[in-house]
Amino acid sequence: MARAPRAGYLRRFTLTERLVHWTHASAFFALLATGLVLYVPSLSTWINRRNTVKNVHLLTAIAWAAALVLVVVLGNRRALRRTWREIETIDADDRRWLRGRRTPQGRLNAGQKVNAILTAAFGLLFALSGVLLWLGERDTRFRLDGTVVVHDALMYVSLVLLTGHLYLAVIHPQTRHALRGMTAGDVREDWAAAHHAKWVEQERATR
Ligand code: HEM
Ligand code: HEM
Repeated sequence: MARAPRAGYLRRFTLTERLVHWTHASAFFALLATGLVLYVPSLSTWINRRNTVKNVHLLTAIAWAAALVLVVVLGNRRALRRTWREIETIDADDRRWLRGRRTPQGRLNAGQKVNAILTAAFGLLFALSGVLLWLGERDTRFRLDGTVVVHDALMYVSLVLLTGHLYLAVIHPQTRHALRGMTAGDVREDWAAAHHAKWVEQERATR
């Protein structure tokens, strides 16, 4: 049973959801750092261990996939299914929000839903293009034109998304309280009511 949140606070993310987030985020940073060393020739020359860095990149990719499977298998799959259903449901308020109107939002706003869908899709595309790069070195049938361009393009777009994400999560005064939800698991009810009114309404209705 999940611990009840403190008075004045709402439970925002279960432990499993937070573990999925931080597992994905830490693997992403390690893949980004090692990938950049492989990508930028001056970094490769400076570090002078391209092969080792490449092995670390590949081992991190394997650890990333294994850790995510482990968290999903051992964790609270009901919570993950519920969150995924929420993410893929883009309702009329969300569509208006995406067109710039400040409509009331659910537990995740429309921008966060789009970010989560892109993050999942990019994870799959990174893995697919990465496996093709690895196979292509061993068997010419897997050496497809453009695989490395796809892998690199994903990195560029991910960097843009990540910059916006980090700004909202740790710098922007109105949104950075969310970091508490992704660490401790709960957020202040008044903050939630200002940013995620439909979610707070639902939570109050089920009390
Ligand atoms: C399952 C996930 C992934 C796998 C299996 C994978 C695999 C690979 C492989 C096999 C290479 C080729 C190494 C070489 O011979 O130069 C590579 C390169 C690279 N990877 Fe990944 N990777 C993954 C995820 C990522 C992620 C998440 C990022 C960045 C956020 C990334 C960034 C890069 C970059 C920048 C390169 C250099 C490409 C170039 O030389 O132009 N990779 N990756
Ligand atoms: C130190 C790095 C990071 C911090 C501090 C951070 C912080 C957060 C926070 C606070 C939330 C919850 C937002 C809310 O409750 O309103 C969140 C959600 C999320 N994070 Fe991160 N994050 C980090 C890295 C990453 C990385 C590397 C990725 C993916 C590559 C990522 C993907 C997501 C996604 C998909 C969500 C759910 C949708 C959203 O809120 O946009 N995060 N993150």
